[in-house]
Amino acid sequence: MTLTSTNRNPQLNSHGELTHLLSTEGLPHEVLTRILDTAAPFAAVAEREVKKVPLLRGKSIFNLFFENSTRTRTTFEIAAKRLSADVINLNINTSSANKGESLLDTTDNLAAMQADMFVVRHASSGAPHLIVQHLAATGQDHIHVINAGDGRHAHPTQGLLDMYTIRHYKQDFTQLTVAIVGDVLHSRVARSQIHALTTLGVPEVRVIAPKTLLPSGIERLGVRVFNDMKEGLRGVDVVMMLRLQNERMQSALLPSAQEYFKSYGLTMDKLALAKPDAIVMHPGPMNRGVEIESTVADGSQAVILPQVTFGIAVRMAVMTMLAGA
Ligand code: CP
Repeated sequence: MTLTSTNRNPQLNSHGELTHLLSTEGLPHEVLTRILDTAAPFAAVAEREVKKVPLLRGKSIFNLFFENSTRTRTTFEIAAKRLSADVINLNINTSSANKGESLLDTTDNLAAMQADMFVVRHASSGAPHLIVQHLAATGQDHIHVINAGDGRHAHPTQGLLDMYTIRHYKQDFTQLTVAIVGDVLHSRVARSQIHALTTLGVPEVRVIAPKTLLPSGIERLGVRVFNDMKEGLRGVDVVMMLRLQNERMQSALLPSAQEYFKSYGLTMDKLALAKPDAIVMHPGPMNRGVEIESTVADGSQAVILPQVTFGIAVRMAVMTMLAGA
């Protein structure tokens, strides 16, 4: 695939097939649904004694995590190994990136090692997109790129595993009211969730946050804004909590963690305002006692650990759709 002015979405080729995964924004309903449908049989692979299928045998997948990660990096590695790919985890701390090598020089060198796929996490929004543009410009567009989280921009596989989780527990997106609660301003996860939820037909997506943690113009993404958590949680089917991202806050946007918890922390009392069968989600890592109380995080309505498990199947689905035989 070559990036041209006629190809507006660099994730899709001229046949509408996924060639890279950079964002859930702009992915058609049909593509999102195909990813979720493809993930379902991979979830069953995990139940087998031999948890491997040969779909990516002979492929070399490079995990390039320029930012910390527990869940995403590990589940990408498990997913690639279950697909029989060769996985190379570049240790950024001991790589030549530490000697000043540029991102594109690093990927050029890995491309020279016959890479088939880059899984990229980076603190800079747009870094995976920059790699895609560079690969196209240098005739290396047979290498697929998956965004594993870039700055505040997007975390598409997190958004997709969240959609898989919601569909698993609630089946029909078109009957749901979903609330996203917390630090929307700094959250790449929230953006990926909102784009996926609205495309999949969720009729009411609410965002609940103090004004200081909401990007201006968020309503334009098709969400209802609430500053009062109790009002916003009333009658919802799904509560998606967000981590308070202190590392991305450039100034004091909140009085204190205790004040934040009082107004926006999910407690059993506040959860009682949602539907009795509402599910509670969190992408992790959690700040217990800041955005979520332990009794909720470990309670019967929480599906936080199943989210992690489903992440393996969803990442297997994405990698297979990109590079499978
Ligand atoms: N949800 C998520 O991205 O977690 P990690 O930072 O541990 O990968």
